[in-house]
Amino acid sequence: MKKYIQDLQVVNKMILSKEYYLLELSSNQPLPEVLPGQFAEVEITGSDTTFLRRPLSVHDVDYDKNTISFLVQIVGKATKHLANIEVGKTLNVIFPLGKGFELINNSENALLIGGGCGIAPLLYLARHLKKQGVKVSTLIGVRRSSQLIELDNYKKYGEVLITTEDGSEGTKGYVVNHPVFENLKQFKKIYTCGPEVMMKAIAKRANEAGVDCEVSLENMMACGIGACLCCVTETTEGNKCVCTEGPVFNIHNLKWQI
Ligand SMILES: Cc1cc2nc3c(=O)[nH]c(=O)nc-3n(C[C@H](O)[C@H](O)[C@H](O)COP(=O)(O)OP(=O)(O)OC[C@H]3O[C@@H](n4cnc5c(N)ncnc54)[C@H](O)[C@@H]3O)c2cc1C
Ligand code: FES
Repeated sequence: MKKYIQDLQVVNKMILSKEYYLLELSSNQPLPEVLPGQFAEVEITGSDTTFLRRPLSVHDVDYDKNTISFLVQIVGKATKHLANIEVGKTLNVIFPLGKGFELINNSENALLIGGGCGIAPLLYLARHLKKQGVKVSTLIGVRRSSQLIELDNYKKYGEVLITTEDGSEGTKGYVVNHPVFENLKQFKKIYTCGPEVMMKAIAKRANEAGVDCEVSLENMMACGIGACLCCVTETTEGNKCVCTEGPVFNIHNLKWQI
């Protein structure tokens, strides 16, 4: 797929919680086709300390408004700097990058599982799956209820299930402790993004139940276009760059012990 480098204007910034914010960016030219699961490399404009672009998953695209949005968690200097960007400023963005999720068809059930900021690519995925007639269930796992964000947006596309580690909302524990794991066979496919340890636990359960499963990896990245090789992961076909061959992989193509 062709990649674009565009100066996108910040048209909306929403602070969702202490850790999370949402940036909505607009282009002065029609946005290209973006597939669910793809990501962008965003320049950290105006930063004296962050020189490398940062990878962010495409959270949503609204072709009527010609906007693309990103859900960001503040973890370090770049994500903190971006949180202070003013509406009206521009960000230089390379997109769409990587390979997205493989969509299933009409009348099938899909389970989407996001851990923490791993929910970011799942909203756009849910939008696409629902459009195809798929019944979507989204399971969101966080440490505590104050980290639950944007639930109403996910509810537009299907039921939303919740786990919190401290039990402050939904089922207490990790995502794999949710009762939905007792009947995984009802799903044609599981799609997940979040901490690797969580995705490995999900992959194991999906494998045991014989349910197809794709994971979106968030390896450290620099260039985002296959040039620096800093993002490689071991697959059944040798080492592959997560930025160009992923970030989405089928669990059976990864060298995970599941
Ligand atoms: C394909 C892809 C999609 C991503 N999508 C999103 C998204 O939609 N929203 C979002 O908020 N973040 C996303 N990330 C993670 C995001 O890129 C990093 O959090 C960001 O680059 C950190 O930059 P920083 O300067 O703020 O923090 P840094 O100072 O670079 O790092 C701060 C801390 O975060 C850790 N960290 C940095 N990068 C990563 C990473 N890639 N994975 C795990 N830990 C990391 C570092 O080890 C360090 O402990 C994605 C990453 C990838 C590879
Ligand atoms: S980030 Fe440079 S090769 Fe993947």
